[in-house]
Amino acid sequence: MRNGHEIAKLIEPGRVHRSVYTDPELFELEMERIFGRAWLFVGHESQVPHAGDYITTELGRQPVIMVRHRDGSINVLLNRCTHRGAKVINERKGNAARLTCCYHGWSFDTDGRLAAVPVPEGCAADFDKAAFGLARAPRVGEYRGFVFASLAAKGSSFEDHIGPMKRNIDDLVDRAPDGALALDAGMHRYAYNGNWKLQVENVLDSYHVPFGHASTINKQGVQFARREGDRQGATVVEAEKTQTAASWRERKSYIAGNGHGWTSNTSLDEGKRSSRAFDEYKRVLAEKVGAERAQQILTPRLHNSLIYPNMSIMGLNIHVRVIKPVAVDRTEVTIYPIRLVGAPPAMNFGNVRLLNVTHSASSFVQTDDLESFVRAQKGLRSRATDWVDISRGLGEEEADRELNATRALATHEMVVRAQYKAWLGYMREAA
Ligand code: FES
Ligand SMILES: [Fe+2]
Repeated sequence: MRNGHEIAKLIEPGRVHRSVYTDPELFELEMERIFGRAWLFVGHESQVPHAGDYITTELGRQPVIMVRHRDGSINVLLNRCTHRGAKVINERKGNAARLTCCYHGWSFDTDGRLAAVPVPEGCAADFDKAAFGLARAPRVGEYRGFVFASLAAKGSSFEDHIGPMKRNIDDLVDRAPDGALALDAGMHRYAYNGNWKLQVENVLDSYHVPFGHASTINKQGVQFARREGDRQGATVVEAEKTQTAASWRERKSYIAGNGHGWTSNTSLDEGKRSSRAFDEYKRVLAEKVGAERAQQILTPRLHNSLIYPNMSIMGLNIHVRVIKPVAVDRTEVTIYPIRLVGAPPAMNFGNVRLLNVTHSASSFVQTDDLESFVRAQKGLRSRATDWVDISRGLGEEEADRELNATRALATHEMVVRAQYKAWLGYMREAA
């Protein structure tokens, strides 16, 4: 096993050693040192609106249940029976008065306490039910409905961790006329044969967009022409790639510590986005918050946001994305469409429909990225060179005093370097 000093050698100012993506031993260490102690996104309170509602997920590879108790509190419990270890809840979501294990029927209250043991006369004389409650995530934090947990009792506080990203969450939640979000429109879920960090790096990667997504963002039909080897189509692709790359040069990306980051956005409302549903949305929003505030809300500067290490809030075709490592070369991604509570149903529905086209498992956009991740993982098997380059814009970062952040061109790789700084912070220290 590598010591902290050896791990530090894998990250240089503008490059990363390929083993960071390919070495199973390093992956095990990531599960312990990053996913075993960082603040991780668990779920959103709207997923468990009523007492007894639960969702199940994994923090790293540890199964957990997020469940609403009778008193309204949300508990994050380890999904592991205190009898002989079975996963208590197998469903992805549901409602139950008690959480009952399938194996021998032990049942737990929604705050984790052991409620009943079948055939209790068989228990040891000193059996103490109070000592057999489901284990809880040692620390849980919540901000505007987003629930996070840390599997370590100690470490930086929730406030310190999430603080720099609160305004990014505000930026999205404030878009809802009723000031609340709901993750209640299902999900898209898919897995790819590549390392989890490929997806984490990608959510703020503006550099790849005109190239990786050329077939989607160019004029409809071009991708088909290109597939058929049509020369005219190929010329159009080239022209549009150049055009799009030029527009990307104006965009900025930002970092504010802890591996988090975001990219700037153009206004949601430049007259380009007029539809009956959007106009109605603007009217409802202005009615609730006033015309001036509505205009501010429709001009967000905080676009796609990464809350390191496992979630992002995508601001344009709005969704929450959760990244779950499965193995060194296997990752599961879940996309939750976001409903802006109080917005016209037609607008929320339009967003779900857009996500079907852009981010479902068989969509245009996300599948481009998955292909790139899989190819990266394959390419990194090569020993021709051991280093992955992340040096674009190195040394050109500048302070943004207004936002209390550091900014760079969005096509630079500052955000990736910031992620590796955070990665090393977790990885070099034993728990
Ligand atoms: S393992 Fe859960 S009741 Fe026995
Ligand atoms: Fe992409």
